[in-house]
This record gives sequence, C-alpha cells and structure tokens, in this order.
Amino acid sequence: MLETVRWITAEGTVLDCFEAGVPLLPGKLRIIDQTQLPKDLVYLELDDIEEIVAAIKRLSVRGAPAIGCAAALGLAACAQHLPDEGFAGAVEALADKLAASRPTAVNLFWALERACAHLRKCALARSGDLKLELVLEGLAILAEDIRMCRAIGAHGAPLIEAGMGILTHCNAGALATGDFGTALAPMYAAHDAGRRFTVYSDETRPLNQGSRLTAWELHRAGIDVVTICDNMAAQVMKEGKIDLVIVGSDRIAANGDAANKIGTYGLAVLAKHHGIPFYVAAPTSTIDTALATGARIPIEHRAAAEIGAADGVRVYNPAFDVTPHELISGIVTENGLHRPPFKFV
Ligand code: MRU
Repeated sequence: MLETVRWITAEGTVLDCFEAGVPLLPGKLRIIDQTQLPKDLVYLELDDIEEIVAAIKRLSVRGAPAIGCAAALGLAACAQHLPDEGFAGAVEALADKLAASRPTAVNLFWALERACAHLRKCALARSGDLKLELVLEGLAILAEDIRMCRAIGAHGAPLIEAGMGILTHCNAGALATGDFGTALAPMYAAHDAGRRFTVYSDETRPLNQGSRLTAWELHRAGIDVVTICDNMAAQVMKEGKIDLVIVGSDRIAANGDAANKIGTYGLAVLAKHHGIPFYVAAPTSTIDTALATGARIPIEHRAAAEIGAADGVRVYNPAFDVTPHELISGIVTENGLHRPPFKFV
C-alpha cells in the first residue's frame, strides 16, 4: 500500500480513515513528495496553507483524486490553527487559496466544496467540534476515494486478459489517488487475480510522471512494465504490442469528453487508427456534470522552464488536453463500465 495522502496525528499515527479512540487533533496532512520519486521516497508533513498550496502547484502531490484528498485534509490541518472567532469565514478563505492552486482537476473543487458544505451544516446545527468535523470529513473523502478506486479495479479488471500489452499515459495509480489508482486499478486487480500482462508506460513529457511514477509503482508491485518515450506510441502500436489503452482523467464532461495529461488525445487518435480499444478510468468525483462538453474544461498552462527550451525561445506548455468522447470505448467508474453514448447527469 502506498500512503500517498494521509492524516498524521501528533502521536505519529498515520490514518486513512477514522479509527475509534485515536485522538485526531492536533494533526497534519502527510503526503509523499512525488517530485523526489523514483530516487527517494520522502514524506512531507504540512499544516501551513502557503506550503500546501506550493506542494500542489509543484506537483509534490498530484493526480486528480489525490489533489482532492490532500486539499480536504490540508484544509483541516490549517484550520486547527484558526481562532474560534470568525472560524467559518476564515476556513472559506483558506479553501479559496487551495482552489487557486491548479485549475483542471475538478476533484480539487469537489472536495473543498464538500468539506465547506459539511462545516456550514455543522455550524448551523451548532453540533460537534468544528475543527474535528473538518478532519473527519477529510478522512471520509479519503476513505471513499480508496473504496472507489478498488471498485474501479473490480469493474475494469475483466478488460485485461493474460498476455495483453496495455498502454497508459501519465500516472493514474496509487500515487495519484488515496490508494490503488484509477487507470492502474484494473491492472492491480487483474494481477492479483493471477493474470500476467505487460504495461507500456509513456514517459509523459515534460514532467515524466509515466517513467518516474507509473513505472516505479508498477515495478514495485511486481507488474511487468516497459517505459517508452511519448513519441514511440505509434510505432509500438503498429508493431502489434498494444491490445488496450487505459488512462485516467482530471475532469469528464457530461457527454464523456475527458481531460487528461497532455498527450492523451493523441493516443486516442492513434488507438482509433490501429483499432485498439481506448478506456478512461475515473471516480464519479471526476465527472463535472455542469459542463455539457469538454470545450469549457479549464486547461492549466505551466511554466516554460519545464520544457527546457533554448534561451529566448518561446514555449507553449498546456498540461492537459481533452479527448473527445467519440474516441473513447468506455469509461470505468466505481459504478461500473459505461459504454457510449455517455450521458452523465
Ligand atoms: O499534472 P498531473 O500529474 O497532476 O496530471 C495527472 C493526470 O493527468 C492523471 O492522469 C489524472 O489526474 C488522473 S489521476 C487518477
């Protein structure tokens, strides 16, 4: 088990859900610092809003569901230092700062809104210790995320047969979620069921989440994984090595258009050309039913320095693209495998 995002108490107990009898306060958000992988497995313990926002921005914690869990627990960690006077308003201000960290993954906004709505409900009812309630809600979001990932694994595993070659892009594994992952969850479940297959992991330029993170976590789990550069996917498909593509998503519109790491759209086009099924795996917290299509999904643009261009040369660095629904064979959520036409309400 990779403890990507957790709550750590002052006594050093690491929790992924509420455990009766464990004092939850004071406590901190604990994350794996993914910028240091695969070289070092380092944990950060945070309860300062500027540090948590910076950690999300620099991708110490990343992947749509993990960002949501980290935001909810990070909010709870920072909130415990607030005075009781004006507490609810000050928490909303912290949530606004967290919400401004990254724009594309809807899980961030979903988790923050859920935590704030819970706080408003408790404040109105004058029930419970509000600081504790925020920790409990953060832990509930984390525990639910882990359950959703396991369900995605169970629903997606039948897509994977022994001997297959599976291509994935970026990292949608345990490092991108509470545990187990979304796109990688069916792979973990199929592997646990005894089926052996090969995963081709795109390097995923410019930040190399595929070669640094996906390959690291699959190899650690004993799954056969081969790293390829992003520009090799077409050739690898042509050589007949790929039977299936599975990727995660940062935001899915009501019609099934799916935003994911830049390069995903190109893979979907290639898969269509080669007659290879292309699946997206994501929890329902990634579905933004307020958006009819993917056209209005906000796309994050990142610093030029990530690309490594020659001095003085302009850089274009969108971090995500949107794969049109007509290129998607199916979307696996915790509720099952959805086939087109997609209509999420
Ligand atoms: O920029 P990142 O590393 O946060 O991008 C992550 C992805 O694109 C993932 O594929 C997506 O969040 C799904 S994670 C289960």
